[in-house]
Amino acid sequence: MIKAVRGTRDLLPPETALWNFVESAVRDVFRAYNFQEIRTPIFEETALFSRSVGEETDIVGKEMYTWQDRGRAESDRGQSLTLRPENTAGVVRAYIEHKLWDRGLNKLYYIGPQFRRERPQKGRYRQFYQIGAEVLGPPSAGSESPARDAELLEMLATLLDRLGITGWNLELNSVGCPNDRAKFNEALRKALEPVVGKMCADCQRRALSNPLRVFDCKVPEDQPIIENLPRISRFLDEPCRAHFEAVQAILRTVGVPFTLNDRLVRGLDYYTRTAFEFTHGALGAQNAILGGGRYDGLSEALGGPAAPGIGFAIGEDRLVLSLQESASAEAVVRRPDVYVAPLGARMNPDAARLARELRRHDLVVELGDETFRLKKSFEAATKAGAKYILIVGENEVKADAFALKNLETGEQISIVRSELAGKIQAGR
Ligand code: HAM
Repeated sequence: MIKAVRGTRDLLPPETALWNFVESAVRDVFRAYNFQEIRTPIFEETALFSRSVGEETDIVGKEMYTWQDRGRAESDRGQSLTLRPENTAGVVRAYIEHKLWDRGLNKLYYIGPQFRRERPQKGRYRQFYQIGAEVLGPPSAGSESPARDAELLEMLATLLDRLGITGWNLELNSVGCPNDRAKFNEALRKALEPVVGKMCADCQRRALSNPLRVFDCKVPEDQPIIENLPRISRFLDEPCRAHFEAVQAILRTVGVPFTLNDRLVRGLDYYTRTAFEFTHGALGAQNAILGGGRYDGLSEALGGPAAPGIGFAIGEDRLVLSLQESASAEAVVRRPDVYVAPLGARMNPDAARLARELRRHDLVVELGDETFRLKKSFEAATKAGAKYILIVGENEVKADAFALKNLETGEQISIVRSELAGKIQAGR
């Protein structure tokens, strides 16, 4: 028997109703902040990710699904392609490719699958879904302003509140700019030199190539060493410090609580200045519901114009998991309003016509079959969770009046066609 591939899964009803509930709240909230949707391809040139996310990161180093495409001719080696492990790189590529700054498109969001070859566990999959948003633009458009950072964080707090997710924690840090990073890397290398020999192989490599990535290490024995390493917060230059202070001041004024965490460096190389994660206790080990930050140099690194930016991605799988702690999927599923039961031979056409009329009134209709006896129709209606059952027999059609039974109260009435939709809507 063929099963879904390890790390992938089928999302089934009624849980899919929760996903739709989340996505529709997301679209409403993001719209209020004037974001518009972008959809980028699911695969891109591999170089897009190595140049943005970074060669030394776990994502690019170990987790990407990459393959060599075929060229046009049989003998041609094609491009190296990769299933997107994240969507920021694709958005910035599209921003540059379509000169989106010319169209004033600087606030974009996306919802879609991403792929990372991680070890699967609760809240961690190889195909997972992200809901993300990016604000980027020319510096003259204010894209560097701390107001953008704070607005995005406030939008996230609003979204989580609206979804009824309580108990989240916003962890905030600044990872500085390239200027600070050079000094910080220098200090890190110095601090690592005497101890790195005792660390894991990954850390030994990172210490030379990209010391900041040492903070990604999950090996328990390395943690005491990492705990004693210098932190980026001591190396911020004056503009970066002022920017970070300004973000915090706005958050305090608008009432978004946060915790400072100067160990938070995020697992992707493109970040500058503000970096953040929202965590949730109910998720266990994979407790980050979302993560993001500023990436002021990314557009230029990908060959575009200066376009400072900031964004985030929510792990939708994890968001739904934390939602399931507080709301059941059943509560957001819309059950059929009415089960239309054709009663007797040749009643399918009339039943179909009635179902069509009712659906035009925005009712959810489950349509039965004329071969069902009345008892079987009642069973099917109950199984479908319908509120009403509507009997469509020959006599009813002749009289243009139908038997409508409320399956919750047991009340049954005879009702004329013209009043049917109104009656069912009123009972919803
Ligand atoms: P990230 O921290 O790599 O950032 O991923 C964001 C979120 O995606 C995580 O916090 C987590 O909820 C979810 N996630 C990541 N990997 C998995 C997985 N294997 N299974 C389930 N959920 C997962 C980014 O991807 C950046 N592009 C965010 C960003 C946007 N930064 C700026 N703009």
